[in-house]
Amino acid sequence: MRLFTAIDLPAGVLLRLERLLATLRPEALIKWSPLDNLHITTKFIGEWPENRMDELDQALAELAPREPFEIRLRDLGWYPNERAPRVLWAGVHAGPELAELAHEIEARLESIGVAREERPFAPHLTLARIKNPVPMHSLRRKVDQLQPADLGNFRVGHFSLFRSDPGSNASVYRKLRDYRFEAALAAP
Ligand code: 2AM
Repeated sequence: MRLFTAIDLPAGVLLRLERLLATLRPEALIKWSPLDNLHITTKFIGEWPENRMDELDQALAELAPREPFEIRLRDLGWYPNERAPRVLWAGVHAGPELAELAHEIEARLESIGVAREERPFAPHLTLARIKNPVPMHSLRRKVDQLQPADLGNFRVGHFSLFRSDPGSNASVYRKLRDYRFEAALAAP
């Protein structure tokens, strides 16, 4: 199974993102993320054997307790750069709690054999992937007009484990379980 952990988005934020995508989509023939696929990845796990799911689940459930924290979605940008982009993203801003969460997940999962991520943690929402060279002037102009795109903020009280399966158009992401910060706080 191909797995990752991520923070999913509340309905109000999804509504704003839906409006944003409806504005941007007509501007370029690239691979737009389906609304259901939008999330903030905290750790890409990759292939994990089905017979070790309990071990993975327990490792995530045993993370240190934490308080909910605030995330703000703002700014649009290109990865790795505007000239030859592979991804159009929305920026994810938070206090140190978000990177701490990602690093704790990383360390906990490394202890059960998940490969460590070598790239620095750069939280983002992937709005679209650019696979082939297509005209992008009109999309670039629209993105510039929308800056600094304020896409709202929300309080994060859990992260989730997702499974990724190939789909005919985009990958299909299915949530397997939520890990609530409060549950961790309540644990003995
Ligand atoms: P991305 O959207 O920036 O590509 C499921 O694939 C999730 O894991 C995506 O959010 C993806 O981020 C993230 N991810 C991180 N590293 C990955 C990798 N090496 N391969 C595939 N997905 C990765």
